[in-house]
Amino acid sequence: MRVLGIETTCDETAAAVVSDRLGAEGGDILSNEVLSQIAQHAVYGGVVPEIAARAHIDVLDRLIVRALANAKVELSDIDAIAAAAGPGLIGGVLIGLTAAKGLALATGKPFIAVNHLEAHALTARLTDPLDFPYVALLVSGGHTQLVAIRDVGDYRRLGSTIDDAAGEAFDKVAKMLGLPYPGGPQIEKLAQEGDARRFDFPRPMLGRGGADFSLSGLKTAVRQEVLKLGTPNDQDVKDIAASFQAAIVDVIVDRVRGGIKLFTEGEGRPSGLVIGGGVAANGAIRRALTRLCAESGLRFVSPPPVLCSDNGAIIAWAGLERFKRGFRDDLGFAPRPRWPL
Ligand code: KG4
Ligand code: ZN
Repeated sequence: MRVLGIETTCDETAAAVVSDRLGAEGGDILSNEVLSQIAQHAVYGGVVPEIAARAHIDVLDRLIVRALANAKVELSDIDAIAAAAGPGLIGGVLIGLTAAKGLALATGKPFIAVNHLEAHALTARLTDPLDFPYVALLVSGGHTQLVAIRDVGDYRRLGSTIDDAAGEAFDKVAKMLGLPYPGGPQIEKLAQEGDARRFDFPRPMLGRGGADFSLSGLKTAVRQEVLKLGTPNDQDVKDIAASFQAAIVDVIVDRVRGGIKLFTEGEGRPSGLVIGGGVAANGAIRRALTRLCAESGLRFVSPPPVLCSDNGAIIAWAGLERFKRGFRDDLGFAPRPRWPL
């Protein structure tokens, strides 16, 4: 079974073809074409929705053609067409969704509307055999949440951020330090040469019950420190990056611990902890969660960083999982800029 997946919810235009394996778990990525718009947004210090939508229109048709060609398939070989229908920037979502519906209409193939967050949460099953139920930590530029993944289409939110998303915190701190967008990878790189103990930044919500996050206080504490320093020198920047990253890692580990506890109380033992979203590419976060899972005797499934950030293969895979369970969507399916899991 082969599914074409289209992703246009933020600043990556992406198309991919994914297949399942006969009689085995997991899937194969036959092609995964991603065109990042980062260069077009970088001068503005963040994603500009109108620019994103126009850039998706410019390249999506050719990208789909390339995804099919690199997978060595024709459109007629595809069993279903999936697109991320949200959550995300409405202009971008409209473009990917409309393209998928158009292809479905023209070919008579089934159309599957995928929740972008669901796609991040199901990606682990593409790369690793993993049974339901499990806990997923979704950390990206727009979202930060812990979700109980009970089955395809059966999700329960364990906790989420009450203010900033983790990626947003990385990006805002990077901006304060004069680093280019997106800030996460820059902070991670500079943190390697910094002293994580120089600044004692707050760890909001640490030790609290539940699994909600709050990150704006941490961001504000960093801003105050930057203002105090005036013009931070290279070493100051590295030390702030390291101290900030250490704080956010502590918060994430503590909140994930809370999420696992909530899950265990409600659903029993999870089969593992899964991460997804752009921030899940961060090595310090991955190492800390590896340790946490080792201590808790829990399996940790971390898809490769390229599958953590936005791409078409995760949409195609979630579409395939839905398709196999009989989910189909109507061509009248409206884009959902907000679509909580
Ligand atoms: O999932 P994603 O590609 O797009 C959204 O749906 O938001 O996530 C992008 C976010 C950005 O905020 C970026 O700074 C962050 O992920 N990010 C990282 C790293 N790589 C990307 N944050 C921390 N460390 C990284 N290595
Ligand atoms: Zn994402």
